[in-house]
Amino acid sequence: MGIKVVSTGSYLPEKILTNHDLEKMVETSDEWITTRTGIKERRISKEETTAELAYKASLNISGLKPEELGLIIVATATPDAFFPSTACKLQAFLKNKNSIAFDISAACTGFIYALYVADSIMRSKNISRALIVGAERFSKILDWNDRTTCILFGDGAGAVLLEKSQDEGILGFDLGADGNYGNLLYVNSVGSNESPPYYLKMKGNEVFKVAVRTMVESAKRVLEKTDVSPKDISLLIPHQANVRIINAVAERLGIEKGKVFINLNKYGNTSAASIPIALDEAIKSGAAKKGDLVLLVAFGGGFTWGSCIIKL
Ligand code: ACO
Repeated sequence: MGIKVVSTGSYLPEKILTNHDLEKMVETSDEWITTRTGIKERRISKEETTAELAYKASLNISGLKPEELGLIIVATATPDAFFPSTACKLQAFLKNKNSIAFDISAACTGFIYALYVADSIMRSKNISRALIVGAERFSKILDWNDRTTCILFGDGAGAVLLEKSQDEGILGFDLGADGNYGNLLYVNSVGSNESPPYYLKMKGNEVFKVAVRTMVESAKRVLEKTDVSPKDISLLIPHQANVRIINAVAERLGIEKGKVFINLNKYGNTSAASIPIALDEAIKSGAAKKGDLVLLVAFGGGFTWGSCIIKL
């Protein structure tokens, strides 16, 4: 018995905010943003909540039968409420009454953490179908006067349907965390001693260095654990934070550029949504095909990190 990703979906809000638009809001330039990050534009949700983004991404999954789901997990750092969870809201939208539903908070690594938890639950319990979503509305937690952070992020959601299967579709994981780095990237909330508004704060260049190192180490560990060689990886789907981080990770892993999926030019960093959106686009564009080995690797606030190898 194995667990397989059988179908994917994604949703991006309609409104596009380009680097040129940002030039009118803060002291920046398209040239600076493009060369430092690779981002050209991002999507911004005007009205849609995180739960609605998650719902629209889920509806985009072909063959989804909501009543058959036994588990719904939403990875998000930008829930609409402390509770009910985004996953419970999604469950209500889907009119499902048979599942357990909860959120996972692991910032940009949230989707890989959610896959790990779903994989473990499905293997040990009588649950054969799960919906795993990464959904974010980072535009709500950005200080739009802070040029060092507001240029980086965007809104969106990606979703996958997992099913129990004869052959193995999730080959292995490597996950980790180090809370000592919490002060390099955070968003406080009502439980802290900070006064609102609560905006994302980041020491970008320090985050950059740890991101490259931990993503490479984590990816190497999952390759070793699963006995897969980098040359057998058909596609690397890294968390889409910065093209320079992605290129450094791919180079250190010995994965050639043509096998690295990048869409952050269109969407910026959508945190927990970035990998499932990219996976959906990779599959629908033909960049990833049935039978391919795909390496997912992410890094995020916490710090958290994680890697996973899936066989499509
Ligand atoms: N436009 C123009 N200039 C800018 C901008 C901007 N938007 N932002 C910063 N600058 C200036 C700085 O003030 C600085 O000026 P100075 O030299 O006069 O002091 C100069 O540009 C260089 O700034 P750095 O911060 O050193 O630039 P760096 O090359 O490190 O790039 C960046 C910054 C893009 C943020 C990079 O560090 C990065 O991508 N870090 C990783 C961030 C990341 O991945 N975060 C998400 C993690 S995932 C999660 O969990 C949310």
